[in-house]
Amino acid sequence: MALPAAFLEELRARTPLAGVIGRRVRLARSGRQWKGCCPFHGEKTPSFYVYDDHFHCFGCGAHGDAIGFVMQSQGAGFMEAVEQLAAEAGLDVPKPTPEAAAAEKRRHDLHSVLDAAQARFRRLLFEPEGREGLAYLRRRGLSDETIERFGLGWSGAGRGGLAAELAAQDVPAELLRGSGLLRETEDGRTAELFFNRVMFPIRDRRGRTISFGGRTLGDAPPKYVNGPETDVFSKRRTLYALDQARDGVRSGGPLIVVEGYMDVIALHQAGFRGAVAPLGTALTAEQLEEAWRLDPAPLLCFDGDAAGARAAARAAETALPLLTPERTLRFARLPAGEDPDTLVRQGGPGAFQAQIEAALPLADALFGLLREAAPAETPEQRAAFRARLEALAKSITHPALASEYRHALLDRFFADRRGATRPAARPRPGLPPAAARPLRAPRAMPGEASALAERARVLTAILLRHPDLLRDVEHAYAELALPAPLDRLRHALTEWAQAAEALDSAGAITHLTEIGLAAEAAQALSAVPVPLPACAAPDAMPAEAEAGWWHIFGLMHRGRLQEEIAQAQRDFVERPDRTTEARLTALVRARDDLMLGEQQPEDTDA
Ligand code: UTP
Ligand code: MN
Repeated sequence: MALPAAFLEELRARTPLAGVIGRRVRLARSGRQWKGCCPFHGEKTPSFYVYDDHFHCFGCGAHGDAIGFVMQSQGAGFMEAVEQLAAEAGLDVPKPTPEAAAAEKRRHDLHSVLDAAQARFRRLLFEPEGREGLAYLRRRGLSDETIERFGLGWSGAGRGGLAAELAAQDVPAELLRGSGLLRETEDGRTAELFFNRVMFPIRDRRGRTISFGGRTLGDAPPKYVNGPETDVFSKRRTLYALDQARDGVRSGGPLIVVEGYMDVIALHQAGFRGAVAPLGTALTAEQLEEAWRLDPAPLLCFDGDAAGARAAARAAETALPLLTPERTLRFARLPAGEDPDTLVRQGGPGAFQAQIEAALPLADALFGLLREAAPAETPEQRAAFRARLEALAKSITHPALASEYRHALLDRFFADRRGATRPAARPRPGLPPAAARPLRAPRAMPGEASALAERARVLTAILLRHPDLLRDVEHAYAELALPAPLDRLRHALTEWAQAAEALDSAGAITHLTEIGLAAEAAQALSAVPVPLPACAAPDAMPAEAEAGWWHIFGLMHRGRLQEEIAQAQRDFVERPDRTTEARLTALVRARDDLMLGEQQPEDTDA
């Protein structure tokens, strides 16, 4: 009994394979996959791997998808396995009706038409007619291998060629219309949708062509034309190049969501083989689900302009209700005016790799993105902004996670106000100006030099992740003796902080990248030589980051920490509010941690 392919696809998409298998096999994460002891042959060391859509045992060769697993592990028949999984996924198994069979046949026919069109477009690109198109793609830096891999083509120069060619192959005009390649004109005739365009086939996750995008050679609008919704093409469910990205992610790369076709292609060519893109619309929940099947923390990389920031903020909002502790997003913020295509073309793969490494977790990126979009100057605006933060945290359906996000967003909200009401540059009463009290690094014992450098690096990393702390620590930071690369970062960061509207990590990294310090920043944030402590993690709470900063600073300049505490106590007595209290708490916690650390045989933080 044949079930519609679309139903089986939906069933597979809604069935978390690791969940189904995890009920019978104890699974542990192994990179992006899961791994465990094979249930089909006795083994002590795990050689059974679970991927996003299939399992494979490298010991006995057992292999299959969710349906196959239920069949093999329970000895169930195909329909029995389907019914069981459908019930769990809340789907009704369709009765095989004549209509269903007809719909199935139609989709099959549409695929054939699209394949025939695709063959024509590819052929034309290498014929004299497609000369300009081919030259265009080469001018944009694409190799012949890349053109081949993405199946790029040429539409033909006039309208009518495609219809004539397919008619000669006995393809009914009705099917050609159904495939989206013909459209109705205003006067009721039909015309080909694409002419004089470079053609980008759009494929589903299994690699079948389901539609096309076409780009003009110039910049006359519309720059891209995309096929309409059809029986085989749903924009909101499709990610461009997902079929290729599945291989890329399996071989270890991150899944990267970018904005445009050309961005995807340029990234693949540069070796970032997990790149995909939505189809010119905002990222949808369905697309996010697809992405999460491949990577628990896909990297979103939007263009470095205002539209890119808006797109990122929208994507974050779409993601919130769907978040769990197991799946999240990361955000990379490109320098202004760049897209991934221009970045790898000009800076090479290294330039994009630096962006990946500087990516921020969702919790960190979210506040900055929202803050950028909403003015929060007047009390009314701030109250509205705060209500919005609370509403967004509430939109997370996972209760514990919602509560964590609420705290994280509100912490940043208050830190932001502190920044607004106490300018960074204002000298703090009671402390002599920094220049009057130069701080020398404590005399280094043999072997201590590298520990000192590492502490300086961690202090810098914390500020890169939580630049809003600059306002509290700037005077102490200014006095540290730092090696040259960290000194350059400090100089750039403090200058940026004077002028920046919001002190968020994405903004800091973007600025440093713009002025050519991407490598220094990446080095400061690197997990090499030593992984950074938790307080330098992007998702550390502001209070934790601040306490961590002072703790490490205290390891280097203990007396100075004591002075800071005395000053914070005076501030708090004079002005007992949330800001002065938070600062005092962070400092006291840092001192306590420091003393605790000294009772232990070894430092635990450097
Ligand atoms: P961009 O204009 O950022 O595309 O639009 P791009 O990839 O950088 O274009 P190039 O580099 O000039 O070739 C991003 C995406 O938005 C959709 C397309 O999917 C495009 O890849 N788009 C853009 C359209 O659908 N229509 C348009 O007119 C423009
Ligand atoms: Mn571009």
